[in-house]
Amino acid sequence: MGHTGSVNPVRVGVIGCADIAWRRGLPALEAEPRTEVTAIASRRRDRAQRFTERFGGEPVEGYAALLERDDVDAVYVPLPAVLHAEWIDRALCAGKHVLAEKPLTTDRNQAERLFALAADRQLLLMENFMFLHHPQHQRVAAMLAEGVIGEIRSFAASFTIPPKPQGDIRYQADVGGGALLDIGVYPIRATGFFLGMDLDVAGSVLRHERSHGVVVGGNALMTTDRGVTAQLTFGMEHSYTNSYEFRGSAGRLWLNRVFTPPASYQPVVHVERQDHAEQFVLPPEDQFAMSIRAFARAVLSGERPEEWSRNSVRQASLVDAVRMNSRNIYFP
Ligand SMILES: NC(=O)c1ccc[n+]([C@@H]2O[C@H](COP(=O)([O-])OP(=O)(O)OC[C@H]3O[C@@H](n4cnc5c(N)ncnc54)[C@H](OP(=O)(O)O)[C@@H]3O)[C@@H](O)[C@H]2O)c1
Repeated sequence: MGHTGSVNPVRVGVIGCADIAWRRGLPALEAEPRTEVTAIASRRRDRAQRFTERFGGEPVEGYAALLERDDVDAVYVPLPAVLHAEWIDRALCAGKHVLAEKPLTTDRNQAERLFALAADRQLLLMENFMFLHHPQHQRVAAMLAEGVIGEIRSFAASFTIPPKPQGDIRYQADVGGGALLDIGVYPIRATGFFLGMDLDVAGSVLRHERSHGVVVGGNALMTTDRGVTAQLTFGMEHSYTNSYEFRGSAGRLWLNRVFTPPASYQPVVHVERQDHAEQFVLPPEDQFAMSIRAFARAVLSGERPEEWSRNSVRQASLVDAVRMNSRNIYFP
């Protein structure tokens, strides 16, 4: 927390004492000079207090009470996915800028409606896909454009995690909404970043666990209009993977830990061609800090990058398309 001296920081309120807020969102908000945490709300006062003791700001019981506060310019929403739309809507209607955790909403219609509402009120609405702010992906895109593996033929991305404890939001259909919304959105967004958001979903397989009524894993095949394909794997019943790979006419390029690299992690780009292999070590970067900074800068400058909203809406429609084109497998 702190002031830059010349600029008043964005006063941020947090609704929901989420794990991601504790581990990533709040430390980044606290460290960023352009933001100041003024209030943290929880359904339970003691939880809010535990958070404000560490990160500062006033503890508030109930999200609605936080939205009424005059000392809050912007709201960070780390709620479970299914609750995002309602609280983004209420925050915008209360005149607050919004930084919402991914996925912004559960479907395209809601995403479109919320961006229209934000534009109408001249407020910033941003979906917090933190990995997009790590420069490693720009660097990879530049290497690919230079032809390091020839022409791109296909892309593959995977984000899978081991099962979560019982009771986790991801096992509650009407709260976290399952693995497509929580985890599948990452490889989908990465495909859009590299191949462009203008993609077709050729098909998908979604594995539904009957006992919880949620998707626990799946696979999707997408294509550009030129037939460059993307094969995406996601789930929460796996060993841990967090990677992407490009196959080209002259070689292959891949990286690990692409979605959640810690701030100190030095990304390694692996390139393999015919008869030799190379590795490029990139500088570490704090994508959590970068994302918060991008949000604060846009709030302060009044900039409302059109591509942010366009890409978030397109992303939501790709998630819809994965659902609509799926072969659904139910077990046990
Ligand atoms: N950007 C990233 O890298 C990243 C990483 C992980 C998760 N996420 C996203 O962040 C969001 C939260 O994920 P998380 O893992 O941090 O979840 P979490 O620890 O379960 O936190 C969700 C919070 O939402 C509030 N909440 C309100 N109604 C709830 C309900 N019916 N059930 C459970 N919680 C409820 C709770 O806060 P109170 O009890 O204080 O009211 C809870 O602490 C999700 O959208 C997820 O996709 C993003």
